[in-house]
Amino acid sequence: EKYTIVDKDTCIACGACAATAPDLFDYDDEGLAFALLDKNKGNVAVPDELLEDLADAYDGCPTESIRISESPFNGHADQPV
Ligand code: F3S
Repeated sequence: EKYTIVDKDTCIACGACAATAPDLFDYDDEGLAFALLDKNKGNVAVPDELLEDLADAYDGCPTESIRISESPFNGHADQPV
């Protein structure tokens, strides 16, 4: 299982991730990204059919703000993975 969360402290609202993975990421009022599946808690497993989009978004983020872990984040983007 894979979980994802956006570190909003480092996201620069570049806009790449939701263009790459529109089912996984969206932007808030300030243009900062969040994980759609769980309102950026990072505790809902990414469906298998979206894992490729997830990998592409991860690779495409210029600030490495997209985090991926095999265990849930539970709202903490900075947890060790
Ligand atoms: Fe932010 Fe990275 Fe997406 S900078 S808007 S999380 S591609």
